[in-house]
Amino acid sequence: MDAGFVKNLIIKSIKDNGYEFFGDIPLEFSEHADVSSSVAFLIKKENPAEIAKNIAKKIEDNGEFEKIQAQGPFLNFYFSDKTKFEILTEALAGMALKPLQKNSGKTILIDYSSPNIAKPFGVGHLRSTIIGQAIYNLYNFLGYKCIGDNHIGDWGTQFGKLIYQIKTKKIPLESLTIKKLEELYIDFHKQNNDSLEQLARDEFKKLEQGDVENIRIWAECKRISLEEFSRIYDLLGVKIDYDYGESYYNELASHVILELKEKGIAQQSQGAWIVEFPDMPPCVLQKSDGASTYFARDLAAIKFRIEEFNPDIIAYEIGSEQSLYMKQLFATAKMMGIEKDFKHIAHGLIKSKEGKFSTREGNTIHLEDVINEAINRSRELLKDSDVNIDELSKQVGIGAIKYNDLSQDRENDIIFDWDKILNLRGNSGPYIQYAHARILSVLEKAGFFELKDLPNKIEDNESRIISKMFCFPEILKQSADNFAPHTLCNYIFSLAQDFSNFYNQNPIIDASDETIKNFRLAICKATGDIIKISLDILGIEAPGRM
Ligand code: ARG
Repeated sequence: MDAGFVKNLIIKSIKDNGYEFFGDIPLEFSEHADVSSSVAFLIKKENPAEIAKNIAKKIEDNGEFEKIQAQGPFLNFYFSDKTKFEILTEALAGMALKPLQKNSGKTILIDYSSPNIAKPFGVGHLRSTIIGQAIYNLYNFLGYKCIGDNHIGDWGTQFGKLIYQIKTKKIPLESLTIKKLEELYIDFHKQNNDSLEQLARDEFKKLEQGDVENIRIWAECKRISLEEFSRIYDLLGVKIDYDYGESYYNELASHVILELKEKGIAQQSQGAWIVEFPDMPPCVLQKSDGASTYFARDLAAIKFRIEEFNPDIIAYEIGSEQSLYMKQLFATAKMMGIEKDFKHIAHGLIKSKEGKFSTREGNTIHLEDVINEAINRSRELLKDSDVNIDELSKQVGIGAIKYNDLSQDRENDIIFDWDKILNLRGNSGPYIQYAHARILSVLEKAGFFELKDLPNKIEDNESRIISKMFCFPEILKQSADNFAPHTLCNYIFSLAQDFSNFYNQNPIIDASDETIKNFRLAICKATGDIIKISLDILGIEAPGRM
């Protein structure tokens, strides 16, 4: 018994009623039934309540359901105990997921993380890193070929500024650190005058033209930054397949610029070349001094990615402040004759409880400091645990930061509130990790068990968990379709809550007979598996003990 089975019953009844509907039948998990469908809203005929009633009436049931009922416009399904048993058996064997996991034959390229070189890794790029990686893992799980590309900002006029600073201040390259680079950058902007900007532009131009000295300085800045980034990625447990970075496209961008000029897509404007749109402001392709732009390099990246990987979907996990830019980019690709499924996976800002996320001095907050604080706070929280606290506080602290980000609708601005992030009772990473660890400990204590028979009665607490199990594959699909990890997070949170009620109210190891005990242990095991699979997808560790 799976979602496909229920959908087919609905489709058949729709036909038998003489209604028309194309597309995927929506299924939702509901508080009022085991599973529910709002398909009646999507059929344009008489009123939805009437439609739901008619569909319910004509569904052919072979004992799979206790009842099928329209409640207003919703179509509610209540599983029979036999079906519940079947769902649990399938969840236990991981069977429900098999059809989802077969090779889809599709490739998705995800551009994520993409920090800028010569700046420390700020919290701003954290969201892209965490969400991008979760989406990568999710699609991977669903049988896609995934390509992760870290479009590092390692090219552009900002390097002219750094090179200018390093040269005029005669700073030995060996003495450079990421901190020093940041200071030089901030110092440049403090001086803030036009002639300086021009000198910086000249340095960048020399870099673009292959000046040996400038390339040497740039390469050193890049090396230092990449070292810093990889330390952060290691801490976060993130691994991105490629990091071509913007500099890789310097040469290719000049071809794209030429192509756009020749095709008449680019227009000259005050010495620069721009692309105009009927419904959006123009984008600069080439500056008046001949330098390429972020936009030109992104167009070059599109061409390269198509040639190299031929992806079906090209997705960008980038902040929503670049939404207009993304539209301009996709529209330009279309003008160039590139028909691809482009997606902007936009995220909002991270804010602290006080408002903006920055230090008192107005500097950006460094990600590493935030990670370290999370680890220290977790250490405090878990100090009574008898497990290796170093390892555990890292797993919990980092998991908490990730879960905080992933569990909120990514398009919204999110609040960084330590009390909520580490709340062991609320919708938090530690809560889910704890539920999982508790399940493992029950299973360990119980030892061998075998699900064989259906108990005389299935309790409500058990039923609720089983109907959630039924929905898991649908949740994964919805979460992928909408690039919405929070759908998965909210699902496992509510599953963990149901589990907690079950655990507190229904004796497991001390159940009144063997059949019930085995049945309950099966619920524990299958619930634990679902949480573990989900945490893996979300990139969050699942400590065995807490
Ligand atoms: N480095 C850019 C930034 O920090 C993000 C790059 C995103 N990817 C892209 N292909 N434009 O704003």
